Amino acid sequence: MNEIQLKPIHRPLIGELEVPGDKSISHRAVMLGSLANGTTKVTHFLEGEDCMHTVEAFRSMGVSIDKEELTLTIEGKGMEAFVEPREPLYFGNSGTTARLMLGLLSGLPIFSIVYGDPSLSKRPMDRVTIPLKKMGANFDGREMGSYLPLSIRGKTLNSIDYTMPVKSAQVKSAILLAGLHAEGETKITEMTPTRNHTENMLRAFGADLKTDGNTITITNKQTLSATDIYVPGDISSAAFFLAAAAIIPGSELTLKNVGLNETRTGIIDVLLAMGADIQINNEQTISGEIIGDIQITYSPLQSITIEGDIIPRLIDEIPILALVATQVEGTTIIRDAKELRVKETDRITAITELLTTLGAEIEATEDGMIIHGRTQLAGGKVASYDDHRIAMMAVVASLVANDEVILDDVSSIAVSYPGFFEDLNKISN
Ligand code: S3P
Repeated sequence: MNEIQLKPIHRPLIGELEVPGDKSISHRAVMLGSLANGTTKVTHFLEGEDCMHTVEAFRSMGVSIDKEELTLTIEGKGMEAFVEPREPLYFGNSGTTARLMLGLLSGLPIFSIVYGDPSLSKRPMDRVTIPLKKMGANFDGREMGSYLPLSIRGKTLNSIDYTMPVKSAQVKSAILLAGLHAEGETKITEMTPTRNHTENMLRAFGADLKTDGNTITITNKQTLSATDIYVPGDISSAAFFLAAAAIIPGSELTLKNVGLNETRTGIIDVLLAMGADIQINNEQTISGEIIGDIQITYSPLQSITIEGDIIPRLIDEIPILALVATQVEGTTIIRDAKELRVKETDRITAITELLTTLGAEIEATEDGMIIHGRTQLAGGKVASYDDHRIAMMAVVASLVANDEVILDDVSSIAVSYPGFFEDLNKISN
């Protein structure tokens, strides 16, 4: 356990930061670079624990991946070059590795066994194994292949026309990766758009992929060709400092080179609707993704209702938005976010328990929460639930609390934001 005592600082956050690379894009760059023919260079890669599990999985299957600081060089030789891993593949805490790899492995001509940490072993995998089995995939595991560990005997798959019952980019991506190795045309329809990094990157690698409204079609007609990928800063990591600056009077912060893909910018839309002063500068498109600098200057905020189609665009930012809601006047309602219950932990319970301990007025509902602001947070002893986003939210809460916040364990932060405390120091001193 890595307990930490966080003293209140009550100082504005001032300065400029470049947050680490996007987690979703980093995973996908390793996967597509490994499947492609040729050398893929990935720069500003996120060396968090989750993405390193993806790197290790491909190394165990014979792909050469060299890492020098934040640059990866992947020597892809196409799917035929994959070898059967001798040991089970360990995915740690990473839901994205697990779900996307299940899609990818089910279409490769190898046998594998995959497993994760206790949190990942409780998270539902049937959302991917059900559609993948319809494509002919062979899985075995607990409760008919609903949970890790799972074994996979890969084979050539058949295509499907699938309407997704859950709003999940991981499910969509798993089917797209399986569709790369399926005969015929694989079609996926989403009820609500979710992050589209897999589609953007598959296009950059030359896949035969079409998008028509909420329907995506992919075939196995094109093999992937290597291309270089620059990974933008992760807006889900930037969100912690953006939110902190939004609630600490006098703050003025610029977050440089952050990914601004529209499927991810719900946090900016919500903060603007609450009254935040945010400017976007230096927008450009690199490797199919929009990036830019986010500049925020503190201004007082009001409460809001967060619901409907915006939820997938900010699903990972709900822990930090809940904290913001405790610091603004009025009642904030968050609904349609039941997916939070199956993240790294049940985030509705974790957020509610943590903020209640610190003195907030917050109630959990089945699919969200109701937060009555504004409350001066006190301090206290809280748990991170081994969840990186809950731990970082608690650290930001300590910046506005009256007394010390004692957080049981900060080691989970390494999942997505190694260097989080160093970056916080840079802007809070
Ligand atoms: C991710 C998709 C989201 C998100 C997760 C990363 C991805 O999960 O919460 O952190 O990289 O595709 P769901 O697809 O389960 O919504």
